[in-house]
Formats: sequence, C-alpha cells, structure tokens
Amino acid sequence: MSVSAFGPGRVNLLGEHTDYNDGLCLPFAIERGVTVRADVLGGSRVHAHADDLGEDDDFAAVDPGRDADGWRAFVRGTVGELRAAGHDVGGARLRIAGDLPRGSGLSSSAALSTALALALLALTGASDGDRRELARLCSRVENDWVGAQTGLLDQLAALFGQPGHALRLDCRDLSIEPIPLDLRGWALAVVDSGHDHVHAGSGYNDRRAECRAACAALGIATLRDADADAAARLPVPLDRRVRHVLRENARVDAGVAALRAGDLPALGELLDASHASLRDDYEVSVEAVERTVRRLKSAGAAGARIVGGGFGGSVLALFPPDVAPPADATVVRPAGAARVLG
Ligand code: GLA
Repeated sequence: MSVSAFGPGRVNLLGEHTDYNDGLCLPFAIERGVTVRADVLGGSRVHAHADDLGEDDDFAAVDPGRDADGWRAFVRGTVGELRAAGHDVGGARLRIAGDLPRGSGLSSSAALSTALALALLALTGASDGDRRELARLCSRVENDWVGAQTGLLDQLAALFGQPGHALRLDCRDLSIEPIPLDLRGWALAVVDSGHDHVHAGSGYNDRRAECRAACAALGIATLRDADADAAARLPVPLDRRVRHVLRENARVDAGVAALRAGDLPALGELLDASHASLRDDYEVSVEAVERTVRRLKSAGAAGARIVGGGFGGSVLALFPPDVAPPADATVVRPAGAARVLG
C-alpha cells in the first residue's frame, strides 16, 4: 500500500504575531508545498528520506525519540503525536519532496507536518477527521518536538485553504471565514530576503514570553482583551508589543473591508502599516528584509511587508496592474488545502 499527500505553504496578508494572542489573521494557502509519499513497511521502523537535503532518518514508530532536530523532529513528532492520539502508525517508508524553500517564511513547517499527518493517516486507513483537531496536533509537533512556540496560523491556513479566497481566522474561537480574494489585475508576490529564519532559537519564543509578561502585568488572560490605554502605561518594550497586536488585529478587519470593497490601494497601505509596526513596535525585522522592502517599494509596489515569524524570511508585496514584479519575485495566488493525492 502506498499513498501520497500534499501540504501547501501559506502567505499571510495581514495579522502577524496575532495568532498566539487569540487574535485575527488573514492567510491563504499557496500552490507550492510539500509532498510526502508513504509506503507500508513490514515491522515497526519508520525510514524517512528528505529529497532536497539528501538526508535520511530511521526510528521506531512506537518510540520515535526526541533527540532529533530540523526536519527529523517534524517526522518523529508527527508519528509520536498521531500514536498518542490513538492512531496505529507502524512501519513505514516516507519520502519527502517539495518546492517550498525552507526558512523562507512561507511555512514549510506546516506544509511538512500537514502532508505527513495526512499521508500517515491515509496509510492506516483513517480519515483526517476534524481538521481543527488535526491543526492542533500538527501544532503540538512544532511546540513539543521541534521547540518553536508557534501558534495555529500556519496549520489552519494549510488545512483550510480555498482557491480564490483568503481566510479570516479568529484564533480565539477558531472560526474561519473565507474572503474572496479578487485582485482585479493586481498581483501579490513574495521575494526571499536571503536571510533564513528558524523559529526554534530565533527571537520568536522571546516575543511570546513578552506577550505573556504583558498579560500578567495587565491582569488579563490574552492580549485580545488588552486595553490600549492600559497597554500604553506598560514598561518598554511591552507597551510597543501590545500596541502592535491591537493595531494588527484592527488591520485584519480593515483588510477584509478593503477586499470586499475592491479597494486594492487601501490593501497596499495596510501592508505598509503592518510592516512598519512589525519593524518598529514588534521588532522582528532584520536588515536584509528592510533592504528587500525598500527595493520592492522602489520597483513600484503599492505595499510590502515581512511575512511569517520574522527575523528573516520573505517579503510580500502588492503590485498594481501596470507594474511588473521584479524577476526574483514569485507571484502567489490562493490555492487549495492540504489533501491526499489521488
Ligand atoms: C510563524 C508561526 C505562526 C505565527 C507567525 C507570525 O509563522 O508559525 O504561528 O505566529 O509566525 O504571525
């Protein structure tokens, strides 16, 4: 028995560093992603091969072991979490391939974990069940096995993406509203800043700790409930971190309104405002990203911003119909969710 599953990368239009604060996000799944082919193997060992790196891993399905990092931690973690959830994952050969650059801020991580989970579930004959639960399982892989305290944005985008639509995610109640993404001849494109980002070990976990400290100081459970005036009285830099989260939530709804009104120039302004906030208030930009943003703006982008966890990765830019994106830009459009392939 052999099955293949695909997990897409994602681009987030607006709503960055809001997911783990019970906030709002506006991502879409893209065409690029990761494909996992899984074959049943006698016995109880899992052999995995990552095509792009030419690397292998081999471990016992019943006890994957937590002493691996990088892509191996994702594979071991997915097997471990599926088994912990009661799925009978046994011996398997896994082959991982994809066209999503790692560390580019387009969520190669969730693409990998959703493709792995769907392939392994299909191999055991199980359906993927409740996709919100599956998103939580994939998130536990990243939190508990890889060591990155990421939220649910990437997994929900990968598991719920719809062609032609962005998704308004409310990370408080996990409600998902598809918003038609009609670009009217405008184009969204991503450009790699050349500075790789890694969640585990970057400032990402520090930002999460700062948000927890701000909640403790404000006496609230989540920054979704923060009051702007009270936040302004917090010590530096917590005041700025909360200001970013509150304004970024508001920008998601402003972005939804702009899309509904077909007002693409307004969407461009929101991308610029989000970037300024991520650079100055949340402080997750780096020089290579700043250079890329300046270059895209001078090339005629109506708006440009860092996407994903930050500290490197890609820049997303919006181009008017009469401006061609630069040669190194990849045009992105909303595509379908993670799926088992025919
Ligand atoms: C990464 C994480 C997400 C989210 C973004 C920032 O992509 O995986 O959970 O926090 O950063 O918006």
